Amino acid sequence: MLRTLAFAALVSTVVTAPVAAQTPRGATDAGTARGLQKNQDYVAPPDRVPAHFPAGWRFTPGGAPFVARHAVVVSDAPIASRVGSEIMRRGGNAVDAAVATEFALAVVYPEAGNIGGGGFMVIHMADGRNAALDYREVAPLAATRDMYVGPDGKVTDESLFGPKASGVPGSVAGLTTALARYGTMSLSAVMQPAIRLAERGFVIDSAMARTVAAYAHHIVAFGGAEIFVPGGQPLRAGDTLKQPALAKTLRAIARQGSKAFYQGPIAEAWTGELAKEGGIITMEDLRRYRPIWRTPIRSTYRGNTLLTMPPASSGGVTMTETLNILEGFDSLPPFGGAGWAHLVGSAFQRAFVDRNAKLGDPAFVDVPIKELTNKQYAARLRATIGTRATPTSSLKAIGEGTQTTHMSVADARGNAVAVTTTLNELFGSSVYLASAGFFLNDEMDDFTSRPGVPNMFGLVQGEANAIAPGKRMLSAMSPTIVLDPRGRLLLVAGSRGGPRIITSTTQVIMNVLDYRMSLADAMSAPRLHHQALPDTLRIEEHGITPTANDSLQAMGYQTSFGGGIGLVNALMRVRGGYEGVTDPRGSGGAAGF
Ligand code: DON
Repeated sequence: MLRTLAFAALVSTVVTAPVAAQTPRGATDAGTARGLQKNQDYVAPPDRVPAHFPAGWRFTPGGAPFVARHAVVVSDAPIASRVGSEIMRRGGNAVDAAVATEFALAVVYPEAGNIGGGGFMVIHMADGRNAALDYREVAPLAATRDMYVGPDGKVTDESLFGPKASGVPGSVAGLTTALARYGTMSLSAVMQPAIRLAERGFVIDSAMARTVAAYAHHIVAFGGAEIFVPGGQPLRAGDTLKQPALAKTLRAIARQGSKAFYQGPIAEAWTGELAKEGGIITMEDLRRYRPIWRTPIRSTYRGNTLLTMPPASSGGVTMTETLNILEGFDSLPPFGGAGWAHLVGSAFQRAFVDRNAKLGDPAFVDVPIKELTNKQYAARLRATIGTRATPTSSLKAIGEGTQTTHMSVADARGNAVAVTTTLNELFGSSVYLASAGFFLNDEMDDFTSRPGVPNMFGLVQGEANAIAPGKRMLSAMSPTIVLDPRGRLLLVAGSRGGPRIITSTTQVIMNVLDYRMSLADAMSAPRLHHQALPDTLRIEEHGITPTANDSLQAMGYQTSFGGGIGLVNALMRVRGGYEGVTDPRGSGGAAGF
């Protein structure tokens, strides 16, 4: 009773505060620590267990989430989260809010929010309908298998920077398609806030100013100087960024739908501009582009149901395979110890061996989804985990002998949407199409440029993900919705960080389900990562004790320590409402009411 009262008190103090007071003016200044600062009023839901983190770890347990009684949006930009929240306050559902937030991210978070990239959306409607929308980019018709192999046989950097790095963008087609099927509001209504932000401008915060400064040398090389580095000076915190060309493009899309982006004068202008730079995306590529409705991967973990993204993302398969392996252990070893790192790392390692070799666009290769997500297959893999590290070289795939942004949203009816979208690297290929006001992705780098040669994330991938015209490049994006054992919405989560998307999202889910952490603790807990190759167990700096590290090394692991693994944005349904938590490693924000 006491806890419920405390929760209600928090709801009223947090939620009735004016939205403007909760989120400062900049795009990304709000979230960081605020949501996780000790909040004397906050009492975690009664079924949560207090977390303990190693001494020296950068975050303390026991933080408070953002709490909303009716609806919540968690994204990498507080302004965009507020846009989605307002849409729901005006009666829109979670899909209306997701689409509005995504278009707003394209304006206020241009490093990753986009209309020049692609993404994946998982939808759970309270009436029981579930859906997955794949609006991943595809390779242009002129793409060839070896287009990134130089005359010397080495892989070039053209898959990452410049006019040849881009796949045909899917975002506009995807967002409009999702809205048409599951939304309740008009396209122009959900796009109005984004158009306003592009037209009237918004105030740059310190996080965005830092990112623009770090990438200024790329941006000025490909057309973005005037907007982002005016007079040779990268935008500074406090500057107002107006994007009139983007506003014009968005207005046309709001009026005419996605064809304004894929056909007609806007499309002709931006493909023409790209061609002048040496790009290969044509009007025919745009004419052919289609998002694809897919059946979400539906798996179970300890009685809960996971709805995740099937290929062309590897996220759902790899997460399911990992969790199936771990489910066979009655309980997991204490959080943060060597046993935890060994089991969780070994499960990821095995799932990534299959991912890297077997997964690709199902329209081009046979992907053994059923086998890989099967619990008996996971049991066979589990049996190969002993008491020591297993070298990746001894593991066989089945059948053989900067930048991304995730948002989670839920509405008062219990509809929920998980969306991850990306340009791949920050600002994509760095090519800014001034006529239409957007950056193009560098998603071509997610293909296997050459089997056996690592891509920008060090992923060593195989033939299944080789380049072919019209093919979707394999992704790691893992928008995920978890339903509790009674089938009610429990969690919405996803992340950024290339292959670390899969491991970070999975660990937040495990922290909630296995370790029964509060959502804030689940998000601030240390993370690890194993992607099979390189054969290294990567752990966040100070994420385990030196003693645990000694044990891991004695077990044969090569451990490496580094910065943040993933950037998760998640929400959890709790008694009386929702908790929303943005990753304390980043600068996002939650909004709701
Ligand atoms: O689709 C993928 O898996 C990658 N293009 C995601 C890239 C990413 O997360 C970059 N952010 N750090």
